[in-house]
Amino acid sequence: MAATTHAEHEEIARSKQDGEALTWEDLTKMKLTWRVAQETLRMVPPIFGSFRRALEDIEFDGYVIPKGWQVFWVASVTHMDGSIFHEPARFEPSRFENKSSSPATAPPCSFVAFGGGPRICPGIEFARIETLVMMHHLVRQFRWKLCCKEDTFARDPMPTPLHGLPIEIEQKTSP
Ligand code: HEM
Repeated sequence: MAATTHAEHEEIARSKQDGEALTWEDLTKMKLTWRVAQETLRMVPPIFGSFRRALEDIEFDGYVIPKGWQVFWVASVTHMDGSIFHEPARFEPSRFENKSSSPATAPPCSFVAFGGGPRICPGIEFARIETLVMMHHLVRQFRWKLCCKEDTFARDPMPTPLHGLPIEIEQKTSP
């Protein structure tokens, strides 16, 4: 198992000819990269929540949600619950080891960046492919660094870095 995302992508690239396209099998090897992406989605879920309607009376945490009421579920509240994700404010991709979409020990619907249940995002696999392919080329072809300390964001409602996240980017001469 590669120790860094960089090593993971270099290893995949070594098995390919120059310019040869990535395959599905290559994507399955990007395990660390996907954990990094999942941890990012956990800490800053692009879709912060959505609505559901109670199909029957539900008791939750001492409150009764009557049948027919609309409920707003919020991803960040679940993702920052310390009883599900130990030290939730810490960026720790290894918490996604052992399982592809949610921590091994967590209850169902703990990682809800893509929602959950019958209306779960049908674009998960496509989003995963786009993320991994983009990361592969970004990591292999460029060096970049942050121009200023940027550690917070605002929602409108998508999360946007407060200062625009300027970076200095440089193309590597030989990837
Ligand atoms: C990182 C990328 C993405 C994230 C974080 C994301 C997240 C979500 C979330 C949270 C929902 C609501 C699910 C629920 O209510 O349980 C959703 C629904 C949906 N997503 Fe995505 N999504 C992503 C990418 C995509 C892509 C690439 C596509 C299509 C190619 C897509 C198509 C849809 C559709 C059609 C729905 C509505 C499903 C329904 O209501 O039955 N999404 N997505």
